[in-house]
Amino acid sequence: MKLLVISGSQRQGSFNLRLAHVAGGMARDRGAEVQAFDLRALNLPVYDGDLEAAQGVPASARTLHAALASSDALLLVTPEYNGFPTPLVINAFDWLSRLPAGEGLPAALSTTTNKPVALLSASPGALGGLRSMNLLRQYLQMNFQMLVLPQQNALSRAGEAFDDAGALKDPKTAAAVAGVVDALLSAAGRLGR
Ligand code: FNR
Repeated sequence: MKLLVISGSQRQGSFNLRLAHVAGGMARDRGAEVQAFDLRALNLPVYDGDLEAAQGVPASARTLHAALASSDALLLVTPEYNGFPTPLVINAFDWLSRLPAGEGLPAALSTTTNKPVALLSASPGALGGLRSMNLLRQYLQMNFQMLVLPQQNALSRAGEAFDDAGALKDPKTAAAVAGVVDALLSAAGRLGR
């Protein structure tokens, strides 16, 4: 079972990146092969039609596409900015959507269609990024035909949630995150991926 974990924060000390590490570790503990992408580190340019016409889709988007194509499931961990997923997430999917079939890979849409995806978010606020999740759900289902799992977790008060080693302090919170990871791996298993 191959799991791709994507984090969409736009800062280095990100709570969402920490949450992505925790969830990825849980998936590894359950036997999954985990590949993680921090979109900030991937450093994709903002989508630009002229750049695309001149140079094609950037190599980093192709790398992400290849990782998505070879994965059985996606775990997307992103903050919300003003109730919306971060520009990094939308930008990454914009580039992915521009990839036709080629270089031994199908078009990005074939890669995402019927692929199970689960959502996590973290925020210092009381709602933990919950408001963006419905939008993200709709975005991934309607544009990319992904199977968005009902199970999700929005980690509130993220500033107090992690210990110095990066683990979640509260066992109930850790169990809730593990529940999302379990649901995702089991959905991917049921789909025969
Ligand atoms: C935020 N933040 C925020 N938090 C939230 O819960 N709901 C929101 O709508 C917003 N909106 C928002 C807009 C902008 C432009 C910024 C910069 C921040 C706060 C946000 O959750 C906080 O910065 C987190 O620390 C971001 O997650 P990472 O980067 O720590 O993973």
